[in-house]
This record gives sequence, C-alpha cells and structure tokens, in this order.
Amino acid sequence: MAIFDLSPADVLNELKAGRLKACVVGLGRMGLPMACVLAEAGFNVVGVDVNREIVDLVNSGGGFEDEPGLTDEVKKWVSAGRLKAYTSFGVIEESDVVFIVVPTKAVGSKPDYGILYSASRSVGEHMNKGLLVILCSTVGPLITERIVKRGLEEASGFKAEVEFGLAYSPIRATAGRVIRDLKSYPRVVAGLSNKSLELASVIIGQTTSGGVVKVSSVRVAEMVKLAENVYRDVNIALANEIALICERLGIDYNEVANAANTQPFCHLHVPGLGVGGHCIPHNPYFMIDYALSEDIRPSLMITARSINDSMPKHAVRLIVNGLRDCGKDVHGSIIAILGAAFKPDSADPRYSPVEELCDELEVLGAEVRVYDPLVPIDTLKDMGYDAYEELEEAVDGVDCIVIAMPHSIFKENLESKLQEIYDYMRKPALIVDCWRILDPSKVRSLGFKYRAVGRGLEG
Ligand SMILES: NC(=O)c1ccc[n+]([C@@H]2O[C@H](COP(=O)([O-])OP(=O)(O)OC[C@H]3O[C@@H](n4cnc5c(N)ncnc54)[C@H](O)[C@@H]3O)[C@@H](O)[C@H]2O)c1
Repeated sequence: MAIFDLSPADVLNELKAGRLKACVVGLGRMGLPMACVLAEAGFNVVGVDVNREIVDLVNSGGGFEDEPGLTDEVKKWVSAGRLKAYTSFGVIEESDVVFIVVPTKAVGSKPDYGILYSASRSVGEHMNKGLLVILCSTVGPLITERIVKRGLEEASGFKAEVEFGLAYSPIRATAGRVIRDLKSYPRVVAGLSNKSLELASVIIGQTTSGGVVKVSSVRVAEMVKLAENVYRDVNIALANEIALICERLGIDYNEVANAANTQPFCHLHVPGLGVGGHCIPHNPYFMIDYALSEDIRPSLMITARSINDSMPKHAVRLIVNGLRDCGKDVHGSIIAILGAAFKPDSADPRYSPVEELCDELEVLGAEVRVYDPLVPIDTLKDMGYDAYEELEEAVDGVDCIVIAMPHSIFKENLESKLQEIYDYMRKPALIVDCWRILDPSKVRSLGFKYRAVGRGLEG
C-alpha cells in the first residue's frame, strides 16, 4: 500500500482494519519495545536486525530480562503472529511504514553515523514508492537530511517528499521503563514536508497516550531531543561542581540543595560519580560537533562533559585520601565497589562511570572487587570484573567499600548491615559514599573512616 498517497484519516482507517505493516530496523533496547508498542497499536510488525542472535531470540519469544516487561510483550505479539524478526531487509518491500532505530554514538567527542547511513541505504535498496520512513534514532542537527534522506534517495533512486515520505520522531524513553515511557510520554514529531508530518503524527499518536508534539521542521525536532539531554548533562555538572565546593567547605550538598530547592525556580540535581549510559555521555557531542563546525564554541556544554567525566577521578582522590587517613596506601589495598550499573536500579553495567573508577584504582595498584545484586554475575565477569554474588564475600577482608551506585536496595538495606560489614573488613575500615546515601554520624559511630562526594569531613 502506498501510504504516502493516503490521507491521515485513511491511514487511521487502514490501521484500524489491521491492514498496515510496520517494519522496525534495529531491534535493540529501544527498537524492540517500539516494535511491541506498534503491534499493540494495530500494526503487523516485522523487525530487521543485523544480529542473528537477537532475531532468533525475538522469534523464540524470549529472554530480554534487562528490560522489565519486555519478554512478556515479545512473547505476546510473536505468538499472536503480529511480530516477526528477520536479518534480511527484504521484508521492507511489503512494509507501509519503516521506523529506523539503529545506534548512533559518539566515538570520543566525534559523532559516528556510519551505522545510520548504512541502515538508511539498506532501507532504500528495498523500498517501494509510497513508503513512509520515520527516523527514531537520536541524531545531530541536519543529520536526517544529510545522512538518512541521502542514503534513502541514493539507494532507491526515489525523491523524498515526492515518491516517499520522511519524518523524524526521537525516542524519549529511559532504559528500565521503556515500554511504559513509549506508551505514555508525549512524542515530538516533524516531517520533511507537511504531508510526512501529518502522516507520522497520526501513526505515532496511536502509540502513546501522551499525545504528539508537532514541530515545524526536522531541524527543530533534532534540537529538541539534544536539548533534553544537554539540559540534564549541564545540570548534573552544575550539581557536581557545587558538590566539590561543599566538600571543601566541610558542609553537606544535600542540605544545601534541599534548602535551595524550596525556592520555586531552583531545581538542583544530584551529584555523584558522573554520568553513564547510552545517551547523556554521547548525545551532547552531537550538538557540540555541529556547533564547532559552524565556528560556535559551546563552552558550557563542553565544560559540562568534562566535569561529569572527571567525577570517577574525584572519587579515586577521596578513596586515596581516606585510605591515607587509615594509615594505608591505595597500592595493595583491597576495595569493594558496591554497584556497577550505569544508573540507579538498572541491571545494565555498560557505559557506567564505575568502569573508569575500577580501572583507575587498579592502575594505582588496588585489588578491586565488584558487587551488584541487580546485574547478572556472568555479565560482570564477562566485563572483566572480579565480581561477587554475596555482599559478605565481597566485603570480607577489604580495606574500603565504595558506594558507586545508589540502588534502592542499598538505600533501604545497607545502613542496617553496616555493623556486619565493619566486622568483615580490615581495620581501620573506610567507606566512600559517592551518592551520600548513608548517615555519616551513624557510619562514624561504628568506627568507619568516612568520605563522600559532596560532603565535607564535618558534613
Ligand atoms: N538506550 C537508550 O536509553 C535510548 C534512549 C533514547 C533514545 N535512544 C536512541 O535510540 C537509538 C537506538 O538505541 P538503542 O539503545 O536501542 O541501541 P542498541 O545498541 O540497544 O540497539 C541497536 C540495534 O540495532 C542493530 N543494528 C545495528 N546496525 C544495524 C543495521 N545496519 N541494520 C539493522 N539493525 C542494526 C543492533 O544489532 C542492535 O540490535 C539510538 O540513536 C539511541 O541514541 C536510546
């Protein structure tokens, strides 16, 4: 069906009649949940991924434990015959709308759109006239036009907005609650033409109860997504910078922020070990890179990146300093890192600032153990960590424990286990709390030496 030739009302009717086929290119953390949400909206969904393991896993209906609820959703739609995955792009020939959800990353500070261009060409090679393509990957300014439109047009020989439609609708979901976010957050939508905007809006509008935010151009939508991530990065950097000053003043950042945030226009964020994950450490470089190419130096964004990236090194300084206070050298000390995921309550340890923390400590000659009850032990071991399944084993005989990720389970249980932990450790025993989740007076009263990010020695 040439969806690009239909009116938005006709598209809705076809969808309601179960006659539309959507193809999702890239069945990763965002693409696969997106495929399930599209199936729920009424599409017959095919997914294409270059990774055969993922394709087989989807078709066998299972095993996506990293993302709560995803395995059940995949099982439901696969067994209903509404979701099937392929490694071949040939299925695009029978699709009415294609969603591109492939990875876009920065290598160092340089954006890499190689995968996006290759995926766009692959779509172009198999598309028929009348297709609507909706890009969902996060991209820098002008990339929808310069990379995706170009790849599609070159490979297909068709002209965008004449023979096919192209829209952009970035994904705003957060790992750990992707399905819920996709189904409830407002979605920003833009089209290269008004026709693509209206068609994409009616389709995306069926996937979320949060509604659609139509913007006037693809460039606006690209900047919206980047601005959201830059906003968080800069605000976290600000919190980290204020936290370092609080440490020197001997006061507690939490007390400062809690009081300051009673002012209605103040929203100080939470400082800690830095920023991890698949988006915030990467996406600001998409905007920075474009700005630099236009002779604009976005100093605030660049500084924010470097402040957040420097936090693991700051935690190392606190550890070294605390060990010295215990009469110990970091070289030869045994250190247990509690929490390895990239963010609180996540089971995903990739792109975590904890990796750099561990590397730095090992370079200084420490023996580093890792304990994270949320991350499968095999995943931690595969990443090269000396990982432990039980807290007691992880802290047995160590000189220092570091709270590297403020999982809820640590916030709720760790304080009640402190005496036991202390008994297991070599004395004098040190705690470094990168997220200020423990009560310092309680920690000290048990005999620990104590250091914390954003909390001075008297804090
Ligand atoms: N992960 C997040 O928290 C998050 C949040 C919002 C937006 N995003 C954005 O969503 C996009 C996708 O991210 P993700 O986290 O789902 O990535 P991912 O790495 O989890 O998954 C990407 C999938 O694409 C597949 N792939 C790679 N090259 C391909 C190709 N040429 N053709 C088909 N499939 C291909 C991979 O095998 C993988 O399964 C990125 O632009 C990212 O910035 C991610």
